[in-house]
Amino acid sequence: MFAHTLTVLSLFYCFHYISGNDCPDDRKAAEHAEAQLHNDLFCAYDYTFRPVKDHRSAVNISVRFAIKYISFDALEETFSVHSWVAMKWKDEYLSWDPSKYGNITEMQVESHLIWTPKMSLFNADAAVYQAEDIYTTCLLNNNGTVTCVPHVPHSGICRTSLKYWPYDKQNCTMYFGSWMHTGEQVNFTFFKSRPVITDDYQNGPGWKLLNVVPDRLPGHYKCCPNVTYPMLKYVFVLKRESAGPAAIIVVPSIVIVIMTTVSLLLDVKDISRLSLQCFSLFGHFVFITEIGYNIPKHSADTPVILLFIRDSMILCLMSILLTLLLSSLRKRLEPAPLWMGSLTRLVTSGPGKYVVFTEFDPSDTSDKKTLTENDVNEDSSRKSSDWIMFANIVNSIVFIIFVLIYVILLGVYIPQDS
Ligand SMILES: *[C@@H]1O[C@H](CO)[C@@H](O)[C@H](O)[C@H]1NC(C)=O
Ligand SMILES: *[C@@H]1O[C@H](CO)[C@@H](O)[C@H](O)[C@H]1NC(C)=O
Ligand SMILES: *[C@@H]1O[C@H](CO)[C@@H](O)[C@H](O)[C@H]1NC(C)=O
Ligand SMILES: *[C@@H]1O[C@H](CO)[C@@H](O)[C@H](O)[C@H]1NC(C)=O
Ligand SMILES: *[C@@H]1O[C@H](CO)[C@@H](O)[C@H](O)[C@H]1NC(C)=O
Ligand SMILES: *[C@@H]1O[C@H](CO)[C@@H](O)[C@H](O)[C@H]1NC(C)=O
Repeated sequence: MFAHTLTVLSLFYCFHYISGNDCPDDRKAAEHAEAQLHNDLFCAYDYTFRPVKDHRSAVNISVRFAIKYISFDALEETFSVHSWVAMKWKDEYLSWDPSKYGNITEMQVESHLIWTPKMSLFNADAAVYQAEDIYTTCLLNNNGTVTCVPHVPHSGICRTSLKYWPYDKQNCTMYFGSWMHTGEQVNFTFFKSRPVITDDYQNGPGWKLLNVVPDRLPGHYKCCPNVTYPMLKYVFVLKRESAGPAAIIVVPSIVIVIMTTVSLLLDVKDISRLSLQCFSLFGHFVFITEIGYNIPKHSADTPVILLFIRDSMILCLMSILLTLLLSSLRKRLEPAPLWMGSLTRLVTSGPGKYVVFTEFDPSDTSDKKTLTENDVNEDSSRKSSDWIMFANIVNSIVFIIFVLIYVILLGVYIPQDS
């Protein structure tokens, strides 16, 4: 039974084999020059070895990136580039004489049939699978030049610095090279003209590509004086699309700063002064929370806008305390200390009177004067207006200090959108 099955099987395979090769003669004659060329090129070709006849010579690979799309996740610190990578090298086993093959000078061939360089991204994001092999159709020239233009995505790690958020620029660097071959075996270089093309490029969400700077690192290391490990380095300079975050955070914080400062110009007696300041304090809390949502909290450097709002919040709190203090000062009825009287007279008589601009309404005191009839007394009125004058001076000084502090803070912290 078993022998019988074997016989049937082998018969079947014999028949199949014969019929598979059984090509009609007119078809065989129709084999054109390209098929002939293909057969002759690949009958003894081995794509696992470097295509050089002398093993000591290098395969020079020219690389050109045509950037198509870039996306950058600043929270995850990952960076991906979609590009067409043009690679050109000379395959010494793939040249032919065109006159022998119907003047064919170029031929397309699938990349898995020929030797292709494996270009690795050294700072790759290991969480994303990235094939080093390319799968595409390549162009052969009769002098052995091979050109492949695969469409490849690369994902790398890019440390972000959020110091100048949201007006930050990030430099993301990608290092390409051969993982195992030395530069004496596989030598990656740039195309002589235009190593990076960004003409046909689309910005990813939230980021704008300013520039790509290519650089070839020759790769001399102390360990191995006779070999090099060259790398192609690309620095992508990205700029955040800051209009959105600026509209959400930066411009409103400036509004709140102005509100805090201007509130100091209002009369202490005026309830709107305290409400404005309290509202402004609330606004600071809101913005600190909002920034906290927008930035990674584990970032190495704190965005300066956060520090600015923090400092501004402290100033705002101080302005509230000042308002409370001044309103209690001006309600005082007992005679002002002597030094206070002489201080106010000194300030108001000298050039200092131009600096004291908040003239709190003294009618408040005259109201009191009519209410407390016993106290209708020139001297007492003068003394109580000393308190008000003093409050005026303190308020003006604090206002000037606030303006100075804010100017300094703005100069130090708020980055310019260049
Ligand atoms: C590669 O480039 C080097 C230097 O430019 C040159 O000496 C060498 O002949 C080139 N190799 C091939 C296979 O063309
Ligand atoms: C190839 O080109 C040569 C010279 O241009 C010409 O004489 C010949 O006829 C061409 N052969 C074919 C098959 O076209
Ligand atoms: C091979 O031919 C192409 C196209 O004619 C040319 O650009 C290239 O320089 C040639 N390469 C060599 C090594 O001769
Ligand atoms: C980013 O790269 C550009 C261009 O190479 C360089 O001028 C700039 O100093 C770099 N910035 C940082 C922060 O490394
Ligand atoms: C690799 O290419 C570079 C740039 O063309 C060249 O300077 C260097 O000599 C080459 N290295 C080898 C080993 O051919
Ligand atoms: C490098 O090459 C020199 C000269 O060929 C040789 O003397 C030396 O041993 C080599 N060094 C290494 C680390 O291979």
